[in-house]
Amino acid sequence: MRKNIVAGNWKMNTTLDEGVELANNVNTLLKGKKANCDVIVCVPFTHLTSVNAVLEPELVKMGAENCSEHAKGAYTGEVSASMVKSTGADYVILGHSERRQYFGENNEQLLEKTKQALANDLKPIFCVGEVLEERENGSYNDVVKSQVEALFSLTPEEFSKIVIAYEPVWAIGTGKTATAEQAQDMHAHIRKVIEDKYGKEVADNTSILYGGSCKPSNAKKLFAKPDVDGGLIGGAALKAEDFMGIIEAFG
Ligand code: PGA
Repeated sequence: MRKNIVAGNWKMNTTLDEGVELANNVNTLLKGKKANCDVIVCVPFTHLTSVNAVLEPELVKMGAENCSEHAKGAYTGEVSASMVKSTGADYVILGHSERRQYFGENNEQLLEKTKQALANDLKPIFCVGEVLEERENGSYNDVVKSQVEALFSLTPEEFSKIVIAYEPVWAIGTGKTATAEQAQDMHAHIRKVIEDKYGKEVADNTSILYGGSCKPSNAKKLFAKPDVDGGLIGGAALKAEDFMGIIEAFG
């Protein structure tokens, strides 16, 4: 059966020292209490090796926040999936709305990034989600469907390694969370889209995380929904105690 997961997305926050301290604090808190879900921290490229050194892999797994769609070569400033993997990472966030919005990442590019991640044994946390206008004009189910369909040239074996994160863009960093019902409706929709393509077994085994102003005070209600398998956490992942409060929603 699918895993419950709480993953932190630190974005462009923390210096190296601050990041190592945060990772260390998360690791220490998890040593005291056993989590009833998998825990992942996704950190800036510059922090991967140092963060990996302080995490106990049976307590916390590590991921990057992006990777290149190219394998290697003359792409100044880019970081490949094999580089990410070589730091000890197991996961990589792909297609975050901030990457789509500010860096123009599109479906074709995201498919290539996903293939690079999979070829290097990284599990993609693949983000989808509608903007406010699409929520308001009612096109949100179609928008998210087409974002998931961008991966449909993958084989079932490949697709079964993907974690989906539904992050309504209007809820990210805004303090405005989707209701548990809105999240459940979309997660069930995503699972159906996956089932129609890959069958019930793959769909049932795909973890679908919710992201967007998830915090200790609302996590329990969101995670109680049958198709919400955890969260991708931005702001609240920057304080170890808050992040722990969300992990503990899987009580
Ligand atoms: P937030 O970000 O929790 O700060 O809303 C979530 C995300 O962008 O992954």
